[in-house]
Amino acid sequence: MILRHPISTLYTFLYRQLYTRFAWAYDGVSWLVSLGHWDDWRRVALDFVTGADVLEVGFGTGELLSEMAAKGMSVTGLEASAAMHTITTRKLIVGRVSAPRVQGFAQQLPFTDAAFDTILATFPAGFVTDPAAHKEFSRVLRPGGRLLFVDVALSTDNPLFRFFYRLAFPPSPQAAARFAEALDESSLRISRRVVGNGPVRVVVTLGEKAAADVATV
Ligand SMILES: C[S@@+](CC[C@H](N)C(=O)[O-])C[C@H]1O[C@@H](n2cnc3c(N)ncnc32)[C@H](O)[C@@H]1O
Repeated sequence: MILRHPISTLYTFLYRQLYTRFAWAYDGVSWLVSLGHWDDWRRVALDFVTGADVLEVGFGTGELLSEMAAKGMSVTGLEASAAMHTITTRKLIVGRVSAPRVQGFAQQLPFTDAAFDTILATFPAGFVTDPAAHKEFSRVLRPGGRLLFVDVALSTDNPLFRFFYRLAFPPSPQAAARFAEALDESSLRISRRVVGNGPVRVVVTLGEKAAADVATV
């Protein structure tokens, strides 16, 4: 989630608590702030997956990871929080599915070059504004591969709706600018798709890595 407000320090602190000490509350809180839409918003990512090997970065409580594994997709998960790993392990056991997972940081991916066809992050944390993470994403993506981020944007003038949306997703122009800069600096071809037609729309940011040059004679 990209923050855009002077009180962003407070929100960053609260989010960190939600990813660690209060990870058990994450699914409930995300359900509440999205009025029950969080799973559907997150699931939009699946329509943009390309190729066989998928890496999910910052998988949180593992909802999408479990869903992809249950569909038989070859998916690997990377997540920084130990508490999120614990919850995800439980979820995978209950769902009787498995997926390789690593505890680590987007800025230092423990994978070989060109290991994945798709790298996805839904409601990504601050790592999306960090050029170090983008360098890593480009490195582990295969030629022709795709980086994709899923987030939401408000699309209504209703003042009450705007007030509550901004409470849950406070704006932070600085973070948005840093995100745009990091994308600009990446070697990927960037595009955006907006999905849905309700007051809150899903925004998919895509980064395509050029296919390997075909030698011409
Ligand atoms: C807003 S949550 C999103 C979780 C999930 N993808 C979803 O859609 O609900 C962001 C997740 O990214 C993780 N995270 C934060 N910084 C990270 C980093 N540098 N590398 C990997 N994961 C990170 C957090 O622990 C948290 O679980």
